[in-house]
Amino acid sequence: MAKNFKRYLVTSALPYANGPVHIGHLAGVYVPSDIYTRYLRLRGCDVLSICGSDEHGVPITIKAKREGITPQQVVDRYHAIIKKSFEGLGIAFDIYSRTSSDEHTRTASAFFRKLYDDGKFVEQTSEQYYDEEAKMFLADRYIMGTCPKCGNERAYGDQCEACGSTLSPDELIEPHSTLSGSVPVKKQTTHWYLPLNDYEQMLREWILEGHKEWKSNVYGQCKSWLDGGLQPRAVSRDLDWGIPVPVEGAEGKVLYVWFDAPIGYISATKELTPDWEKYWKDEETKLVHFIGKDNIVFHCIVFPSMLRAHGDYILPENVPSNEFLNLEGDKISTSRNWAVWLHEYLEEMPGKEDVLRYVLCANAPETKDNDFTWKDYQARNNNELVAVLGNFVNRALVLTKKYYDGVVPAAGELTEYDRATIEELSQIKQSLESNIENYRFREALKDAMNYARIGNKYLADSEPWKVIKTDAERVKTILNVALQITANIAIAIEPFMPFSAAKILRMLAVEHFGWERLGDMSLIEAGHTIGEPELLFEKIEDEVIQRQIDKLAAIKEANLAAEVKAEPQKDECTFDDFQKMDIRVSTIVAAEKVAKTKKLLKLTIDTGIDTRTIVSGIAEHFTPEELVGKQVLVLVNLAPRELKGILSQGMILMAEDATGKLRLVQPSEPVKAGSMVG
Ligand code: MF3
Ligand code: ZN
Repeated sequence: MAKNFKRYLVTSALPYANGPVHIGHLAGVYVPSDIYTRYLRLRGCDVLSICGSDEHGVPITIKAKREGITPQQVVDRYHAIIKKSFEGLGIAFDIYSRTSSDEHTRTASAFFRKLYDDGKFVEQTSEQYYDEEAKMFLADRYIMGTCPKCGNERAYGDQCEACGSTLSPDELIEPHSTLSGSVPVKKQTTHWYLPLNDYEQMLREWILEGHKEWKSNVYGQCKSWLDGGLQPRAVSRDLDWGIPVPVEGAEGKVLYVWFDAPIGYISATKELTPDWEKYWKDEETKLVHFIGKDNIVFHCIVFPSMLRAHGDYILPENVPSNEFLNLEGDKISTSRNWAVWLHEYLEEMPGKEDVLRYVLCANAPETKDNDFTWKDYQARNNNELVAVLGNFVNRALVLTKKYYDGVVPAAGELTEYDRATIEELSQIKQSLESNIENYRFREALKDAMNYARIGNKYLADSEPWKVIKTDAERVKTILNVALQITANIAIAIEPFMPFSAAKILRMLAVEHFGWERLGDMSLIEAGHTIGEPELLFEKIEDEVIQRQIDKLAAIKEANLAAEVKAEPQKDECTFDDFQKMDIRVSTIVAAEKVAKTKKLLKLTIDTGIDTRTIVSGIAEHFTPEELVGKQVLVLVNLAPRELKGILSQGMILMAEDATGKLRLVQPSEPVKAGSMVG
């Protein structure tokens, strides 16, 4: 039986503040949750949309160590970037908080403490890897060794990124600590565990029997977890970053990040409103968690068990979770920088917020992994947003401006065709609503775009630009209908493309309409004067797309280069061998190509000792102009040899990267020519 709810609480997975947000996050979680909440608000529902940064956990401490800054500095940086970029894309959370806030520390500590006091945890001592030099227990990520499956020497204690296997530190061959390099030892430590097995029955009934309507990927994952049997899960960790375990004698222990983060939804609601309890504890609230597929177990099994253990909280009504979005055929990866980052997109593509929202929704990985490509982005912009939506709105407005000086004409009698068009339009609303309410946002977007498709066809078929010459009265009706469709579009696309919806309303010079007006064919009165028409979307040219493709190609190349191992060391040489080489800082005073060769440059070099000629095979790497005036290092006592009839007296030192690109080797500051190197 469908339940009626008084209010909605919508949460979006808290992004880790160890990096910016990318299109994968957006397509999987934030664009859908924003569409859903904008729709509910438009309908006038009581809805809160909650999000914030997930600021604890090991990845953040690793990032801090790598960069030589504190974890707090890491999360401050990314929290600011993430928050600002969400705003830039129009993701309209009611609050975007963070788990390093005081309210969160209080809330999460109290939550833990209640479960502790009520005896909901079991305490267990186990052996964990410990780094005796760093004097720290090692999270799995801090242990590296050789992967037993593929032989990769840089596998982590929880995963091998080369072959994708999930590992435990015990499986690693020759494990070592990434903190000190030392071999970790096993040491006893005590932690608190939530016995998930105690909640298995409750979860079975609630999900497997009560929520068969959940998306099959979510339901299926839950079922396989439950069928596999649940085990107690540790809710604390030995780490120096996080919320201290609020128990006497628990020094050095913090709440496990997956225990504190979902409580972040609660603390953020508390920060937002003193009325927070009715959103979390009243059965008439519909709680919906938007998440990515890697979060399913935490939101469907672990967090509900925590909420039940606490006793007074409601459970989610649905947990819509998407699959993953790939980028140009490859898995998106923060560590390999293989992503389109939201904050960069907003800078590089200003004014194209709705284009990204549109593409990510139209191509959302709702039922299977999907691929984002820049060519598809361009095609959807040019063929759908510009050619259909923008074109229709623009024609309706421009023709009204041209024929009636912007004053909306009254409709005369409707023709059969007008009525059929209006009938077709009236079919859309119900499907659109049901698709949004059932988390089928791609289909819902198609429905919304249908208003524009039908409108576009209506104008193309009724050809007011021709009819104006023969039947001016008829054109009034056509444009009245077209303007009503335009206003309907502003309502229908608002959840998906809020910037464009607002722009349409501005161009129509009308106030905002509520969702209940969708389908109304008298939204705009005859006699009303519309505003200035502008283009709603602009065609995106090939060069713009090529720049983005080139940027990704450069990242791919850098990644490949980083994977190539350094050449093995050469045979030993003596100090005397080395002393024989006379290397001098020199200046290139002239450079020209050697005629009839592709690779050779003839360089005139001031070695400080003399001015001489060197022939060098670097013409494919440098232009003569860019070399003149540069300081370089020259092996001056190399035996001279003749190249293409020119005597070359020495060799310029170069560094060659893994892709074969050459770079000059230079002193870090200019040095007098002739200075010795050694
Ligand atoms: N930070 C997690 C991730 O990005 C999501 C946390 S969701 C929460 O995968 F519920 F724990 F907050
Ligand atoms: Zn491996």
